[in-house]
Amino acid sequence: MRTTSGWLAGPDDPALRRATLHRRDLRDDDLAVRVEYCGVCHTDLHAPHSPRDTALVPGHEFTGVVTATGPAVTRFAPGDPVAVGNIVDSCGTCAMCRRGQENFCAEFPTLTYGGTDRHDGSPTLGAFSREYVVREDFAYRLPEGLDPAAAAPLLCAGITVWEPLRALGAGPGTRVAVAGLGGLGHLAVKLAVALGAETTVISRSAAKAADAKRLGARDLLLSTDPQQLAAARDRFDVVLDTIAVPHDLGPYLRLVALDGTLSQVGHLGSLTVEAMDLLVGRKKLTSAGSGGRTETAAMLEFCARHGVAADVEVVPSAQVNEVLDRLSRNDVRYRFVLDLADLDA
Ligand SMILES: NC(=O)c1ccc[n+]([C@@H]2O[C@H](COP(=O)([O-])OP(=O)(O)OC[C@H]3O[C@@H](n4cnc5c(N)ncnc54)[C@H](OP(=O)(O)O)[C@@H]3O)[C@@H](O)[C@H]2O)c1
Ligand SMILES: [Zn+2]
Ligand SMILES: [Zn+2]
Repeated sequence: MRTTSGWLAGPDDPALRRATLHRRDLRDDDLAVRVEYCGVCHTDLHAPHSPRDTALVPGHEFTGVVTATGPAVTRFAPGDPVAVGNIVDSCGTCAMCRRGQENFCAEFPTLTYGGTDRHDGSPTLGAFSREYVVREDFAYRLPEGLDPAAAAPLLCAGITVWEPLRALGAGPGTRVAVAGLGGLGHLAVKLAVALGAETTVISRSAAKAADAKRLGARDLLLSTDPQQLAAARDRFDVVLDTIAVPHDLGPYLRLVALDGTLSQVGHLGSLTVEAMDLLVGRKKLTSAGSGGRTETAAMLEFCARHGVAADVEVVPSAQVNEVLDRLSRNDVRYRFVLDLADLDA
C-alpha cells in the first residue's frame, strides 16, 4: 500500500479532518498522481451529510503531476501534467462504454470517491488528498495553456455541462439559458458562449447580473420576478438547470421554446412534472452527468483553444471546512479550488 494524507469525514461526522490515507500499489495500467489542485463541487457538500457507514474523502475534479506509472502504461510518464474527473473506471465492454459513454456504463462507472473499486472491492477515496492512484484510461493530459488550478473544475463541473450542451446542439443560432450561476452554471455560460450560442443566466441573485455579462451572457433573468419570466416564455432552445436544491421545474419548462429541452443536471433526486408543462410546446426533459472519455478530452482541447476555465478562489486545503461552509451559503465566485501542497507539511 502507498501512504498519503488527505481530508476525511468519519461515518458519523460531516466535518473533514486531516488523516493518513492508503492508496493501492500500482497495477499494470495505473498512474500515481501528485494532486496539486482539486475543485470543491457542491456534491462535496452533499456527500458528507448523506447517510453512510464508511469514512469519506471528497474531491473529484483535480489536476496534478504523474509521479509513477505501472509497467503497461503507454500514454503517460512521470512529470506529465494530468487531469482527472469524477469517474475513474468502467466495464469497457457494454454498449455505453463502446460508444464512449463510460459515464453511463451498464455496470455503473466507478466514482472517484464514494465508489467501489471494480477489482479489489475497496471504497474509493477522493482527491482532497495529496496522492491519487488512477487507471491511465481515466486520466487526461492537461493541455498546454490551461492554468492547472482554474482547469481542475472542468473535470466535473465543466464536463457535466459540456456533454448536454453538445448533445443538445448549443451553438450559433441557438438560445441557451443557464439556471443557477454557481460552479456548474458559470462554466455552462462560458462554454455556451464559446460554442456560439446566445446565452442568458437565470438566477435568484440580482447581484450576479454584472458577472453574467462579464462571462459573456446577454442578460440575466431574475427567477424571483414573475414578470421577467413571463416575458421570456418559450424563448430558449435549451435551458440547462444547475440549481443545487429540489425546486419546481414548471417555471423553467415554460421558458423552453417549441421542441426545446430542459436539461436538469443540478438536483439528482426525484422530480415532479406537470405533463401540461411538457405538452404545450412539445417540450423535452432530460438529464446528464459527468462525461465519457472522448468528450472529456474534446472538452479540454476546446477549453485550451478558447481560453475557457473556471473563475477560482484558490485556498490552502486546510481551509476545506470553511470553504464548504461558504459554499453552503452561496458565498463563492465561482469555484473554490484547494491547493493540496500544504499536506506536505
Ligand atoms: N449531474 C451531475 O453529474 C452533477 C455533477 C456535479 C454537480 N452536480 C450537482 O449540481 C448542483 C450544482 O453544483 P455546483 O457545484 O454548481 O453548486 P454551486 O456552485 O453551489 O451552485 C449552485 C447554484 O444553484 C443556485 N442555488 C443554490 N441554492 C439555491 C436555492 N436554495 N434556491 C435556488 N437556487 C439555488 C445558486 O445560483 P443563483 O445564486 O444564481 O440562483 C447557486 O449558485 C449540485 O446539486 C451538485 O450536486 C451534478
Ligand atoms: Zn462534482
Ligand atoms: Zn460499461
